Amino acid sequence: METRYFAIDSSSFRTDFVGARLPLHIKGYGSQWNASKLWGADYFRQRFGESSIQTKRFERGGNIILERERLGDYLDGLDRFERERSSGRRPDQCERPAYWHDVPIFQIFPELLKDVQSFDPELLPGYYRKNWHQYVQFFMGPSGSVTKLHFDTLRTHNLTLQIQGRKVWTLLPPASHEKCGRTRWRWFDVDPEQPDLHRFPDYEGLKPITVIVEPGDLLYVPPGTLHHVRSLDACISFNIDFHTPHSVLSSFRFAHKGMPREVLYFNFISLLGLVLKLPERALFRFYKPYLNYVS
Ligand SMILES: [Fe+2]
Repeated sequence: METRYFAIDSSSFRTDFVGARLPLHIKGYGSQWNASKLWGADYFRQRFGESSIQTKRFERGGNIILERERLGDYLDGLDRFERERSSGRRPDQCERPAYWHDVPIFQIFPELLKDVQSFDPELLPGYYRKNWHQYVQFFMGPSGSVTKLHFDTLRTHNLTLQIQGRKVWTLLPPASHEKCGRTRWRWFDVDPEQPDLHRFPDYEGLKPITVIVEPGDLLYVPPGTLHHVRSLDACISFNIDFHTPHSVLSSFRFAHKGMPREVLYFNFISLLGLVLKLPERALFRFYKPYLNYVS
């Protein structure tokens, strides 16, 4: 069994990774959390099977189709898909479930909070520490799920905890944006798994980093970092997008590059808290729509 590993003191995490804008992979950070031991299709089916959830399908052209279904039905479809895949059927012969993607899980099912611990205080700015769980976005989906190359829309820092299954993250620094076929504010057309160098000749010479996260691992991804994410197995994970005073102020430098109005608004709310020090409890209700914002 993997032991919990976190040997970075507060100053080195803040300066060497958050401050220096470098990704960090912490092995086994959450291995001992109950969520890592308990969460899975059966656990969710027993507790919340009758609930209605909204899932997403990512189409080739970049459109995102929203679907609504009973969680129990979704989980049955997920199990069926993984059974068919493990029996050797090709992915295109199986009915692929959608992706339960980017959902504020602790607001939907607050009873799940008993399964998680608080993050070490040095990992998050003080603004987020008390109510960190309000900012959590949850992901559950089948093996082979792909989120194409993008950066996180508010240009926040991102802490992701992998709960179940493995994912491969491909990371490229913000300086690569203009070489990766930017299409809209945060989406990019180059496929790092099979880059088309005729279409994207400037991609050649970039040096993407690939990281495989396993259950219990924590991944820190700096603001503006491009990431392409593929699930190698059926996966559960969650992340927190957070700003620091520096990242929120910096985000406005990109306002002229097609930043959506909603992003400007959510970053303005974050600025009121992180820079002007208005209390988090007063601001959260204005920020909360971000957790269901699809962009
Ligand atoms: Fe992302």
